[in-house]
Amino acid sequence: MTSAPTGPAPTAAKTTDPLALIDVDHARFYVGNAKQAAFFYAYTFGFQIEQYSDLTTGSREEASYLLTQGNIRLLLTTGITPDHAAQKEVELYGDGIKDIALSVHDATAAWERAVANGGKSAYEPVTYSDEHGSVTTAGIETYGRVIHSFVSRTGAYDLQNVKEGHPIAPGFAKCGPLGINDFNLKNPCGLKYIDHCVGNVELGRMNHWVDWYERVLEFKMFKHFDDHDISTDYSALMSKVMASGNHLIKMPINEPAEGKKKSQIQEYLEWHNMTPGIQHLALRTDDELASVAELRRRGVDFLAIPDVYYDSVWDRVSALGWDVKEDHERIKDLGILVDADDEGYLLQLFTKPLQDRPTLFFEIICRRGSQSFGKGNFKALFEALELEQERRGNL
Ligand code: FE2
Repeated sequence: MTSAPTGPAPTAAKTTDPLALIDVDHARFYVGNAKQAAFFYAYTFGFQIEQYSDLTTGSREEASYLLTQGNIRLLLTTGITPDHAAQKEVELYGDGIKDIALSVHDATAAWERAVANGGKSAYEPVTYSDEHGSVTTAGIETYGRVIHSFVSRTGAYDLQNVKEGHPIAPGFAKCGPLGINDFNLKNPCGLKYIDHCVGNVELGRMNHWVDWYERVLEFKMFKHFDDHDISTDYSALMSKVMASGNHLIKMPINEPAEGKKKSQIQEYLEWHNMTPGIQHLALRTDDELASVAELRRRGVDFLAIPDVYYDSVWDRVSALGWDVKEDHERIKDLGILVDADDEGYLLQLFTKPLQDRPTLFFEIICRRGSQSFGKGNFKALFEALELEQERRGNL
């Protein structure tokens, strides 16, 4: 199993700040069939199928699978009764992310603070415990169908123990030997942790949610783009990046902007029951070329980048003073995007939607100093996205 704690160095040591974040505890997906989705994400992205909770472990209403890679923990949950919330949400939105859960020192205190800051409770504090320790969680609603759970842990359920393979919560059991897990250990995809997590909100609501993250979670604005930065002839978006105090988690927020044709953000909303949600998770690697090559070999469907993109990209990056040390021909062969700012450069690539609806996708990102999000690629990206939108008849 993978357990390397490779995320950004936590800076929130013991503190009296209830909203000081320690880590991303997990990202919870609501899916139509968790057992099958587990094998999709394990095969395509190299996750270990590590733990499960279902009827056989005493879970009577839902089944969940914990997938791990580096410091990434995905919990895939499906409802197994007709009125389970996950079943209802899958009907409305298809498979997608319900919860970006945040590790804190005291989940109850964090929830009380967020509610006092004006956040709406998604669920009140609840503690699951057994003879080994306890897990306390409490949730607040953010945009659309998404919530943030606060999670605090004691005893054997401490996050460090979970990273080393201990059950993530009471009621979870370790999976037995699986061929896919062995294959993934021998053929690593190199994904380390969640770099950022992007939400799509409705037209005109970006600033509302920027204000919400400032006020409720006490985040700060990290970067700002407007529709002059991110637009093509046909469609556009606006985006602002919110970051936690220690920059542990960055949450860019997109809204559609008016264009001649339909914005990709608008397309997302229309296939997501006109409800805001998570557009993409960016997963960090130290070796973009190796990760993308392995993911392509496994059948991950990435956005096709037009050849013409590579006619200008090297000049664009070197004009900012950076020499891309990775092999330029291989970058082009693998269809990887490159961008730079005054701190360095980055390599990134976006998958196509991970389900049949054009909603959630992943980004694979490697930073060489740059702390931005690929602003210089947005135009190239949008043109590529629009080609795909056109193919789907949604432009
Ligand atoms: Fe991104």
